[in-house]
Amino acid sequence: MMIPQPVVDKLNQQIANEFGAAHNYLAMACRFDELGLKKLSEFFFRQSDEEREHGRKILDYVLEVGALVKLQSTPEPSGDMSSPKSIVSSALEQEKEVTRQINEIAATAEANKDFATRSFINWFIDEQVEEVSTMSELLNLVELAGDSHLLQVEMRVAKMLAVPHSS
Ligand SMILES: [Fe+2]
Ligand SMILES: [Fe+2]
Repeated sequence: MMIPQPVVDKLNQQIANEFGAAHNYLAMACRFDELGLKKLSEFFFRQSDEEREHGRKILDYVLEVGALVKLQSTPEPSGDMSSPKSIVSSALEQEKEVTRQINEIAATAEANKDFATRSFINWFIDEQVEEVSTMSELLNLVELAGDSHLLQVEMRVAKMLAVPHSS
């Protein structure tokens, strides 16, 4: 089955975006490790793995529909990593940006009457609701805690990590 080229282009771009997000989360995980916040570090390592799986899921779909996968280079990690709050705030911005990108794919699929991709992308639309919600919750926690109560955030994150993730 062939899907319209504008949709293929968007999907290839999103593979790069997801791998880019994975790369950013990897840098954030390393930064938290450096700060001695091991649970936050673990949380971001896990986020990174998930983004990589997202990229792979889209890549598999492009292959499945018989279109050409076009990989791009991954940009150097970006975002303010000066404090736990700035890291989580960058992460939330990234998730909001990914939500815009996913919505754009849905819009392009609809505009091109590509209902297969429109259906495929629903999983990502739902996933983004969860991702933005989780990251907002984490930002609230970090803001509430301030610099002096980050260990309490670590305890809460440890509980979040104990729940097996769906994706
Ligand atoms: Fe993702
Ligand atoms: Fe994400």
